[in-house]
Amino acid sequence: MGSRTYCLTTFGCQMNDADSEMIDGILSALGWRKIDSENDADLVLFNTCVVRQGAEDRAIARLERLKPIKRRHPRRIIGVCGCLAQQDGRRLLDRLPWVDLVLGTRALPRLAPLLHEHEASGRPQVCVDLEGDPYDLPYEPKRGPGLVGRVNIIFGCNKNCSYCVVPKTRGRELSRPWKVILNEIRSLVESGRPEVLLIGQNVNSYRDGEVDLAGLLAKADAIEGVERIRAITSHPRDAGEGQFRAIADLPHVCESLHLPVQSGSTRVLRRMFRGYSRERYLQKIDLLRKLVPHITLTTDIMVGFPGETEEDFQETLSLAREVRFDSAFMFIYSPRQGTAAAQWPNDVPLEVKKERLARLIDLQESISRQRNRDLEGRRFEVLVERPAKRPPGAMAGRTRGDKTVVFPGSADLAGRLIEVEIISSNGHTLFGRPSA
Ligand code: SAH
Ligand code: SF4
Ligand code: F3S
Repeated sequence: MGSRTYCLTTFGCQMNDADSEMIDGILSALGWRKIDSENDADLVLFNTCVVRQGAEDRAIARLERLKPIKRRHPRRIIGVCGCLAQQDGRRLLDRLPWVDLVLGTRALPRLAPLLHEHEASGRPQVCVDLEGDPYDLPYEPKRGPGLVGRVNIIFGCNKNCSYCVVPKTRGRELSRPWKVILNEIRSLVESGRPEVLLIGQNVNSYRDGEVDLAGLLAKADAIEGVERIRAITSHPRDAGEGQFRAIADLPHVCESLHLPVQSGSTRVLRRMFRGYSRERYLQKIDLLRKLVPHITLTTDIMVGFPGETEEDFQETLSLAREVRFDSAFMFIYSPRQGTAAAQWPNDVPLEVKKERLARLIDLQESISRQRNRDLEGRRFEVLVERPAKRPPGAMAGRTRGDKTVVFPGSADLAGRLIEVEIISSNGHTLFGRPSA
């Protein structure tokens, strides 16, 4: 039985990436072998996302494809984890009757027992309890290649942004004990990952006793061998001087911040229940840039929220121009079942949403190009990661500001810190040469 195989496909955000590493850890400890082909695997798992309708549709489409496979091979086990599993629970079995396992976002400790139960009974198994620490397990996550070690510091989200399904799919906030986090960082560093990414839907809510995010960053910063630390995602309502000073002052905490603004219009932000105004957001950016002048700043922006007028959208454009984000993830608002905004008229016509998105992307791309052009001629410390996709003979790495840099170099540089002078750029990548 030791050679049974599984295939795991991951959609969605960093939380799912981290959960998938834990699933890999559990299954490999149980003797399952990972393969790439879902047509051949004994166990096919999807770790799903439902943040927008498109994400949900993609997951469902992939699961639909398994129906004929399951018919031909009834003993194959088909499992759904992540946010679709949490959202739909047992109802998913009505929608997709060939599914055997529905495992919610906090149910990782139930994976092994429910697999076992399914194999014994042949019946579908469902667990969508949102209690407890999903990583409190006698297994270690199994990490993919690379120099970055992801460490979950907080599960769930206690905000209730009116458009967002995440609080429902991830449950209430639960901070992991800082001692556990530090131990995990130590072992990541020892296993050759000098860059640490602390993750959570709102890292600014982190708290364990007296230790808040800034305190945790300070403790992580002091760990021997840690080269770079980032925390993602921050919430503009809660992010502030403590975190900004940690970025400014702590030598290993890097100069990049993802601070999703969502909209530039205070009226829209209010209806999104975001808890800050345009002005408040801009004040925070001012403070941050005063403390960390060369910070790389990225964001998420949504267009076509219910009631968004052309005037509101103009405010989003003007905010983007004023802040000059290095890059942005930009989305069309997608109504999500069970959220407050889903009750309101989805009144911006799709054509208008698409047109606003295109205008916003146009603007942001020109800003991104300009931001990168401003870095030409400067030198940066680059952590070399891997051979670049192109050109041949080039390596890729990242600056402390999280900018990707491509430069001529050999594969043996991977894992090293080198200085690179930037010669040219586009909106996504810097190109340079190692300085003497
Ligand atoms: N916790 C993070 C990220 C949440 S999901 C935060 O608070 O910012 C990532 C991004 O998806 C969000 O920032 C938002 O821009 C987008 N998003 C969330 N719900 C959405 C929806 N219903 N429609 C469109 N975009 C959405
Ligand atoms: Fe969703 Fe808002 Fe929580 Fe982010 S802070 S996960 S957008 S509810
Ligand atoms: Fe998607 Fe769930 Fe993450 S809905 S964005 S996978 S928290």
